[in-house]
Amino acid sequence: MTALIPVDFAATDIDAIKDMEGRLAIFVPPAGTLDATAKRVNRLTRGSIARAVSGDAFEKLEDGAAMVLSYPVNIPAEAVIIVKLARRPTVGEARKAGATLAKQAGTTKVHALCGNLRRAHELAYGMILRAYEYTDQKTAEKTAHEGASFVVNAPDDVKAAFDGLDALAEGVFFTRDLVNMPANVLTTTEFAKQLSDLKDLGLKVEVLEEKDLEKLGMGSLLCVGQGSDSPSKVVVMEWNGGSKGDKPFAFVGKGVVFDTGGISLKPAAGMEDMTMDMGGAGVVAGVMKAIAKRKAKANVVGLVGLVENMPSGNAVRPGDVVTSMKGDTIEVINTDAEGRLVLADVLWYAQERFEPLGMINLATLTGAIVIGLGHENAGVFSNNDALANAFLKAANVEEEGAWRMPMGKAYDDKLKSRIADMQNVGGRPAGSITAAQFLQRFVKPETPWIHLDIAGVASVKEETSFAPKGATGWGVRALNRLIMDNFEGE
Ligand code: BES
Ligand code: MN
Ligand code: ZN
Repeated sequence: MTALIPVDFAATDIDAIKDMEGRLAIFVPPAGTLDATAKRVNRLTRGSIARAVSGDAFEKLEDGAAMVLSYPVNIPAEAVIIVKLARRPTVGEARKAGATLAKQAGTTKVHALCGNLRRAHELAYGMILRAYEYTDQKTAEKTAHEGASFVVNAPDDVKAAFDGLDALAEGVFFTRDLVNMPANVLTTTEFAKQLSDLKDLGLKVEVLEEKDLEKLGMGSLLCVGQGSDSPSKVVVMEWNGGSKGDKPFAFVGKGVVFDTGGISLKPAAGMEDMTMDMGGAGVVAGVMKAIAKRKAKANVVGLVGLVENMPSGNAVRPGDVVTSMKGDTIEVINTDAEGRLVLADVLWYAQERFEPLGMINLATLTGAIVIGLGHENAGVFSNNDALANAFLKAANVEEEGAWRMPMGKAYDDKLKSRIADMQNVGGRPAGSITAAQFLQRFVKPETPWIHLDIAGVASVKEETSFAPKGATGWGVRALNRLIMDNFEGE
């Protein structure tokens, strides 16, 4: 897995600044007042800092952004990064300033001279998240980032506040790596292996193979993978950190390792993006890893349906009728609406086996959600206001965009089939909502449930606040917080 950059927390030592190599970072509030450490850097560099922050360029800087003094006079450090930041930043501001540090060119050590700056631990977290870089398929040797030392007045307090954030970042990185991996590397078999490795963290991991899925009657899931040489699988991950016998919370993920569309083949342009069509399963994997690493006091299960959607002589055809584990028959009008076919069986299985307290599924389900919400928000569909609101609150705190969408009978009616119990598409209008209605047919009315359509947010072409281009890891932080704030007792 892509490693986190190393960070440590050290006590402020004004006299050490004159010998520090690598890069120094100082934090200056919009008013331009210098704290004790910044004053020292200013004196050592013969007033360069005071000049820099009194100019126009500093005034025009956005909060959390930085200007850089390269090769400052009189000190061995190769640069001073001047970050514009209030002394008492919000969580979001602190993380953004951390991301700014990560985005500076260079891999030499950053000495972040925080002094009594509030939320230095969030600065470290933001820096770690943004410093991610996926290089597994590059042959050039990678220069490891030397990381950062956060120099603070109360290192023990900051260290304690940071506790657990590294576990979360590892969850986010796991998701990003899985989503960034090409489909010839991350086959269904390799995905299942990566998940089985989570056993080392104390998770119970079970891999259901095609013959098991056949026995369970998962005709809906199995039809999607029947044209591929990669075997379909369902992986079940269990974390039992709560009270014995308490029902778990369930996460369910769409894990289409590649989506060609099948016989309803997608156009060539942009098809390579469908290597991220396992994004839902990737988030479930990352959340389970984070929850296990921080030893969450909750019972949580994660289930993923791993398949590849390929055209071939055995592929499912438009017009075929398949029978789901629930027993309902489905007319496959469009083989490219495959995610819902996978989730239908995994959702049903999750409820039959675990009777979860609540269930959230994640899927790169529809292109329509990208048209509707762009890359800023995931679509939130739910049968339960309390759970939906708890999730929206968690997502808001973590600044992961999420927007509630409507559901209703009129949309559900679009799924009527002439020959089977339902068909797998509901036409172009409200395509994301009819997809959600399809999923809801496999959710028991008593199960509080959310469907997150993450097609627009799982992997993006522009950098975001805390990730470079490509996989974002969207949702790992919000879902971890949802569990932390609502399902860990006391
Ligand atoms: N995996 C796609 C959805 C998708 C589109 C994800 C763009 C990420 C970016 C999904 O399986 C799909 O093909 N959906 C179809 C549904 C249609 C056939 C009803 C779509 O959105 O076009
Ligand atoms: Mn598809
Ligand atoms: Zn798909």
